Amino acid sequence: MSRAGAELRIVFSPGCVQLVQEEALDQAPRVLVTGATGLLGRAVCREFQSSSWVVIGVGFRRARPGILRCDLTDGDAVRGLLQDYKPDVVIHCAAERRPRCGGEAHRSGCESKTCTPPAHSPKEAAAACGAFFLYISTDYVFDGRNPPYGEDDTPNPLNVYGRSKLEGEQETLRCCPGAVVLRVPVLFGEVETVSESAVTCLWLQVQQAAEGSTLDHIQQRFPTDTRDVAAVCRKLAERARQDPSIRGIHFSAKEQMTKYQMAVAIAQAFNLPSDHLIPLTEQPAASTLRPMNSRLNCSRLELLNLSVEARPFAAAIVDSLWPFTPDKRWRQTVFH
Ligand SMILES: NC(=O)c1ccc[n+]([C@@H]2O[C@H](COP(=O)([O-])OP(=O)(O)OC[C@H]3O[C@@H](n4cnc5c(N)ncnc54)[C@H](OP(=O)(O)O)[C@@H]3O)[C@@H](O)[C@H]2O)c1
Repeated sequence: MSRAGAELRIVFSPGCVQLVQEEALDQAPRVLVTGATGLLGRAVCREFQSSSWVVIGVGFRRARPGILRCDLTDGDAVRGLLQDYKPDVVIHCAAERRPRCGGEAHRSGCESKTCTPPAHSPKEAAAACGAFFLYISTDYVFDGRNPPYGEDDTPNPLNVYGRSKLEGEQETLRCCPGAVVLRVPVLFGEVETVSESAVTCLWLQVQQAAEGSTLDHIQQRFPTDTRDVAAVCRKLAERARQDPSIRGIHFSAKEQMTKYQMAVAIAQAFNLPSDHLIPLTEQPAASTLRPMNSRLNCSRLELLNLSVEARPFAAAIVDSLWPFTPDKRWRQTVFH
């Protein structure tokens, strides 16, 4: 019921329509999420919505009703967006993330703007409108030779993706001195297709039980659920509005796994055979350079009391993949 003098307004945001009292809407903090159509951005939108923030989700090619469409490489459009919506916080999830762009075979493609984060204008505009800016970065800024890596360790990216993210970090802190850079490792979560994440795409190999399938068993990874990263983003946003001293922060799940181990864990989680999965202990000569082990030291986040308990991989991966099982009643069969 509406209180006298306070009007009801319909608010459309990603995945949700809310009827909100104008008065409450005026008081609620506002977050603008770039990359809201992407893997992490979708989880970030949901996390802030469930904590009663007003969420302005921004996508581009996949923008749909409830998500604003804006090309972040268009500086005027970005400035207009921030002036119109006046967010308190900008969570910048938009980027091209695929490290295979770093392979020699793809080098020419990497010089196109799709491999650089579409980021300059959002940072400048956020700084101009006084919003707190959170830039999402990656453990791929490190070479992986001397883990674990703290926030102040020297980055040395091995591929174009890592270099472009490092440039994005530096540009962020230059344009927006109050910004925070959050580095995270490989992500998985609710996906639109299994190929959307480097973790969920292992599902395809797990299912090829009729033929042998080789998987890397050298590079150590720390697959992290986007819901946990999103919770960290929200906590950081809430804290940084009171404590402007935070700059760089690391967050990662703690379970260390190679791709081979992830695939076996996926097979076990769904009671599927894993005998056809073959661990590859030598790196193919033509493959993209990736860090061997870029484990992130997350003690700063823990000291700030902003960390979250990462979901166990075996349970979280089921949440991501059950919609792709041939029999979607599988989940009910197992859990109920
Ligand atoms: N995925 C991982 O494993 C991983 C690991 C470590 C760090 N990260 C970082 O986490 C962040 C989010 O990654 P993600 O995996 O969620 O990415 P993603 O799924 O590929 O989504 C990228 C997002 O960027 C948007 N975008 C791309 N170009 C744009 C443009 N010109 N204008 C406006 N929006 C544009 C896309 O919008 P449309 O699709 O609508 O065009 C999409 O929403 C990135 O900074 C990434 O580097 C990701």
